[in-house]
Amino acid sequence: MRRAKISIIGGGNVGASCALWAATKELGDIVVLDIPEAEGMVKGKMLDLAQCGPIERFDARMTGTKDYADTAGSDVVVVTAGLPRKPGMSRDDLIQTNVKIVRSVAAQVAKHSPEAVMIVVSNPLDAMVYTAWKASGFPTSRILGQAGALDVARFRTFIAWEIGCSIEDVSALLLGGHGDDMVPLPRYTSVHGIPVSQLLTRETIDACVERAKVGGGEIVKLMGTSAYYAPASGTIQMVEAIVRDKKRIIPCAAYCDRQYAIGGYFVGVPCVLGTGGVEKVIEIQMDADEQRLMAESVSHVKDLVKVVREMFPDLA
Ligand code: LAC
Repeated sequence: MRRAKISIIGGGNVGASCALWAATKELGDIVVLDIPEAEGMVKGKMLDLAQCGPIERFDARMTGTKDYADTAGSDVVVVTAGLPRKPGMSRDDLIQTNVKIVRSVAAQVAKHSPEAVMIVVSNPLDAMVYTAWKASGFPTSRILGQAGALDVARFRTFIAWEIGCSIEDVSALLLGGHGDDMVPLPRYTSVHGIPVSQLLTRETIDACVERAKVGGGEIVKLMGTSAYYAPASGTIQMVEAIVRDKKRIIPCAAYCDRQYAIGGYFVGVPCVLGTGGVEKVIEIQMDADEQRLMAESVSHVKDLVKVVREMFPDLA
């Protein structure tokens, strides 16, 4: 069987951590690309990582490069390029810089790997997936964003800590944009099948919801830059579902038109992920409160996309 080829654009903290998780899970050959000024850095990181192979027992070719030709024919391309947050910044503050970077990266990806599934990780996430979609011309099934995998993992972690149970037993769902108004869903959260409302008080659940919503900012405050282990881990969970055609259900920023009556934007919704990328968007029932929160989150995503369209009318 041919090994999958996974390219990661941007070899900073998130990109390098993606390469590490993908290698240890032996998902395929890995190429990490960065700008010419960072060529030595990515070549060094990939050489370093390749030398873990004998210890961690993975067979994979590891390439660090500045040349998109080395990414050609990838099955999956992960876009992490762009600035991370600094303390005091929201994800939205990155839009002016990152839209330019993601736009040019997506065009290169489309040129060299026209059949790939593209996963965008750069922030502000939902607007960057939109940008990459327009710049690549990819069908909506093959372009999506990583956010829900991370956000739901944060929420599950906080719930498990409160209960004092294994994180493996906590199952949860989350919708909306990857901003502080994301929508964790306690009604769709259970602990080995037991609704979480039977195990924790309303106040404790609400505190977990709030902490998950600002979970990225909590880490930026502590370490002065954006999180990377969990964002990368969430990304590679998606890559694994795609290259192994697992049909996993993972909340992702996926294109929704009629679904949830979103009207043509990328927002976080539960998706079935397989070889084809987003093979299905699953629509769940929401009560009035959940609908209101989702509408607020989606309206925020629309505002960000408006900024992109104003900056680059050809992406409208
Ligand atoms: C976070 C960044 C990656 O949520 O958006 O940590």
